[in-house]
Order: sequence, then C-alpha cells, then structure tokens
Amino acid sequence: MNQTGSTFVILGATGDLTRRLLFPAIYRLFVQGEWNAGQIVGYAMENWDRSRFLQHLETNLKIFVADFDPEQWAQLQTRIAYQSGDLTAQSLSALKTYVTQDAIFYLGLPPQLFAEAAQGLGKAGLHQPPSSTGFRRLVIEKPFGWDLASAKELGSALAPWWAESQVFRIDHFLGKDTVQNVLVFRFINRLLASIWDSQHIAQVQITYAETLGLEGRWQYYDKAGALRDMLQNHLMQLFTLVAMEPPSEWDADILHNHKAEVLRAVRSIPLDQVADFAVAGQYTAGKVNSQAVPGYRQEDGIRADSMTETYAALKLYVDNWRWHGVPFYLRSGKRMAADYAEIAVQLKAVPAKLFGAGLSNWLVFRMKPEEAIDLVMWAKKPGMDVDTEQLILTAPYKKSQESDYSAYEQLLLDVLKGDQSAFPRFDEVEEAWRIVDPVLQAWANQKPEEYPAGSEGPAAQDRLMDGPFSWRPLKAFS
Ligand code: BG6
Repeated sequence: MNQTGSTFVILGATGDLTRRLLFPAIYRLFVQGEWNAGQIVGYAMENWDRSRFLQHLETNLKIFVADFDPEQWAQLQTRIAYQSGDLTAQSLSALKTYVTQDAIFYLGLPPQLFAEAAQGLGKAGLHQPPSSTGFRRLVIEKPFGWDLASAKELGSALAPWWAESQVFRIDHFLGKDTVQNVLVFRFINRLLASIWDSQHIAQVQITYAETLGLEGRWQYYDKAGALRDMLQNHLMQLFTLVAMEPPSEWDADILHNHKAEVLRAVRSIPLDQVADFAVAGQYTAGKVNSQAVPGYRQEDGIRADSMTETYAALKLYVDNWRWHGVPFYLRSGKRMAADYAEIAVQLKAVPAKLFGAGLSNWLVFRMKPEEAIDLVMWAKKPGMDVDTEQLILTAPYKKSQESDYSAYEQLLLDVLKGDQSAFPRFDEVEEAWRIVDPVLQAWANQKPEEYPAGSEGPAAQDRLMDGPFSWRPLKAFS
C-alpha cells in the first residue's frame, strides 16, 4: 500500500456527501496527478470490510464521474483502507494504525455530529501534529452552527483540541473560479478602485436563483430553510468579496481580517424591524421549465403546515466610510424561474438634465448559467438625433474547458496544501450568524410569503427596494 504523503481520513465515509461529491473529487484529482495524499481511510459506523467499501465507492464513481477509468481506479484502490467504528475516542483510536504522520480528517457527517467527532479525535490524541513541522487538519462541512448561539457552542467544543490554523470550514462557493475572480478582478483593475464606494455605487444585488427543488433532501432542508442554507454562508461570502477593503497581499490572515471587518460593519437588523430588511418566501405549485411541480407543502416528507422558507431576501447596510448608505440586496430561492446567479453592481446615474433620467452603468459578474462579466454602458445611438442606447460589453469568463476543476477539487487541493484563504474563519462565520440571527428569530413562527414555482419570487420582495430601485429580472442577459 502506498504510504507516501499525508493520510486522508473521511469520517462518514459511507454517507451521501462522500459518494456524491467528495470521492468523485478525490478521484478526479488522482487522475489528473494532483492528489498528493498517501493513504485514504474511510471511517464509518457500517460494519463493512474493505472490499465492500471499495465496491460501494466504485458503484458511485460510475454514477458521478463522467469518464470512469477502471485502470485509474485500480491504482487508486491500492491506497484505500476502511475502518468501522463510532465517534468515541476509544473507537477512533483504531485510526492510529493508519495515522502516524501528517493527516487530514474530513468530517463528511451530519452537522449534529461535528462536535462529537472533533472532540473524539482530540481525546484520542489524533489532533496533535506528529512534529513541529507536521500537521493535523480538520475539514468541516457546512452548516457550522444553526444560529449564533450554536455556532459559538460548536466553536467552543472544537477550541480545546483544534487551533484555528488547523480548521478548514468548507463553503464550496469559495472554491468556484468565478467567485475567486470577483476578488482578483476588483483588485487587479485600477479602473474599479476609484469607483468602488458610496460616492459612485448606488446599490448591489446578489442573486442565486435555482430551478431545483428539494432533491430528496427534505429532512435537512425543512429544518434549515433558505436563509441558513444559502444566505448565511454562500451569499454572505459573496457579499464580503464585493464589500471588503483591499488586502495588501494575498495572504490568508490578511484576507480573513478584511472579510471579518466588513462583516462586523454590517448594521444589525432590529428584531422589530425585520420585515423592512428581510423577506421569506415559500413556493406553491407551479411550472418550472414547462413541467408542473408541486408546492413545497405538498413535497414528499414536508408537513402541510411547514413554515420553512424556500426563498430568502435580505437588505444589508454597511456602516463604514466606503459603503455608507449603499444597500446590498441578497436573495436566493428554490424552484424559481431560472437557474440564474449574478452579482450586479449599479453605479449612480449621471445628472438627468444631460441625457435624461436613470442612465446608469452596471457591472455584472454572472455565475450561472454562463460565467461572464458584463459592463453596461451607454452610447450615442447612430443617427442624426442625439439619442442614447445601451451598450453591453460582455466578456465570457471561462472559455471552453480551461481549468475544469470543480469547487470541491479546488478546495481539496487547498486543504492538501494547507492554504486557508478560501475557508471562512470562525469570526467570519460568527459575524454572519450575528447578522441573520434576528431574522431567524422573527421567522421562526411566521408563515412565509407565497410564490408560484417557476416565478421570480414572492411579490413581497419588492418591499425591500429603496427609492427607484427594483429587483433585476432573472436571466437579465440570457
Ligand atoms: C448548497 C445548498 O450548499 O449549495 C443547496 O445546500 C444548493 O441547497 C447548492 O442547491 C447550490 O450550489 P451549486 O454550486 O450546486 O449551485
């Protein structure tokens, strides 16, 4: 068995995340020659032997990997071991047979088991690096906590064993090329530096709309809802990339300091004013891509009186010098009209007397379905009169298949390298919970606004819009 490199241990190795996302990513990295960890140890409750585990992985790779290659798989298999056990320190100690040097522990477990697993590993002494230059890392899936109080609790449960420098919290959006580009694009183009503030920017809209419904995940989703599932983590991270101050260098600590700082500057939403800052929606029966689909309350497993929101919108204000008075609108929903995601930054309009009212520029980072950057400008309409027309300069971001890593592959590589820049630090996660906490409280027993499946969201979303602003249509440029 190949013992070079670190040991990669997957806790929850027989679970859904491992078979659908994690293992296909490991396999693809291996095929591309990028997987530099040595042994992979699957750990789970199931009393399986190694060959049963390998069979399970193979069956799923054939489903989730486009070009499964039996020869590559035969090679990868030689590195894989399986150990069954629970999350007690006693059981976990069995991992010491495999883990003697550097190691990564990946918690592909249900969130309610994160604390127990991290503590169990600690009590078994597996958290301790083998030497002053060696490492032991812990990778945690989302959600990190359920609200502010439980996130703090989870943080405290980890702290005695795992230092912040050892913990990698996955937010797969940060592994997306198009998301990482927002940061690069902002800070590499001098043109943007002089307009990136409240003097020039009128509003920012971040939309992540999905046509998908529950995909069988109702047990998780009905407890989570859209605010926890998408806004507290993914969209909040997109927001920080747009709003953070420029870092002086590409260094994980500096990046995190700047991200945490802007999150801290987000104005708290008063509990009695949540309706002015947030809208919850739940889809009713409708048509998505011409297919009739049931309403959320009619979905398998969902109670007929479920109050869970399948759509959430937030308006945030950042109380610092750069962003004073600029609204940031964030929204995401299931079963919407289109699979469409963008970050849209609107500049202030030019004085109305010159060419008419409302002529403003937009800079749009499109994430889905295409990855592209659009700059909306205005120009003279050709002809004898001085009329204006919109000019959209579009740059496709990803051409053909260049860099076809999935977000998971990117993040796994970062974990192997020990680069924490794309993993939210605890204070960022905590601040994000601080921001959404009053909304969660207000929504706990409140019926969300209805929207028909296949629509642009609940009509009530408009109440968040200030003055002349309105939500951008989904598929704005498609
Ligand atoms: C996940 C959410 O984190 O992100 C899902 O739990 C959502 O509900 C998904 O569908 C969206 O991400 P992507 O990358 O699949 O568009």
